[in-house]
Amino acid sequence: MTQVIDGKQISARIKDELKEKVAWLKEQGTEVTLAVIQVGKDPASSVYVNNKKKACEYIGIRSLSYEIPEETSEKELLELIDELNNRQDVNGILVQLPLPGHIDEEKVLDRISPLKDVDGFHPQNVGALCIGKSGFVSCTPAGIIQLLKRSGIEIAGKECVVIGRSNIVGKPMALLLLRENGTVTIAHSRTKDLKEITRRADILVAAVGRPKMITADYVKEGAVVIDVGIHRNENNKLCGDVDYDSVAPKCSAITPVPGGVGPMTIAMLMHNCVESVSLQKM
Ligand code: GUN
Repeated sequence: MTQVIDGKQISARIKDELKEKVAWLKEQGTEVTLAVIQVGKDPASSVYVNNKKKACEYIGIRSLSYEIPEETSEKELLELIDELNNRQDVNGILVQLPLPGHIDEEKVLDRISPLKDVDGFHPQNVGALCIGKSGFVSCTPAGIIQLLKRSGIEIAGKECVVIGRSNIVGKPMALLLLRENGTVTIAHSRTKDLKEITRRADILVAAVGRPKMITADYVKEGAVVIDVGIHRNENNKLCGDVDYDSVAPKCSAITPVPGGVGPMTIAMLMHNCVESVSLQKM
């Protein structure tokens, strides 16, 4: 029987654990605070930002919302970040991406204090992950590690193949699997004979960005398959990078879309907000 990894349930459990921790911190006199900045009114970003605010509310994290106009200059945005970096009562800062074209995304992300970078995008945090130091870890790959651990799936010694090399998912995913003592291969658009590589995987993480590309012939019998993709198919239904119907019967465990990796990202963002309190005390 294939184990369907329930990201909704696991993320709910994590949020409940965090709720207790936040209440305890409050008793100690610390109110965890996240500042969320959205530049412009991109509808998809508004949905994400609202979900983040709702999660904060559920857990008891104070959220400060900065919904600033599309025309905001890069300088003004950097000044706002400086102000939030300097505020003792702000633990986490999140700038929702994408930013309008006239603003240099890299410059903005680099300006957030690494100690408040709850997205885990700052080069200092990426470097810390690379050499095994403490710091914030990018939320989606951190969430995938939690899905595996909380589903009783051993990583140490396993052949892990990550398809995709983005800074947000592929690269940190590979580093985290390595930290857990997996044997890791990163495959990407220029990989030759992709199927030969993916068929070696005990744990296959698909972050390709192409709907249903990973069919059964990419997967070894009994593999664990993690699907990071989220797309709408021809019938406007959500689907992932993995062709679930053909792949699921072949796996020992698989994440569905929706309800797999997706809900974990916000749960791990909330985890990073709580973690920020101790990181800032170090
Ligand atoms: N836009 C889409 N996903 C993300 C994310 O994880 N963090 C931020 N800051 N912006 C996003």
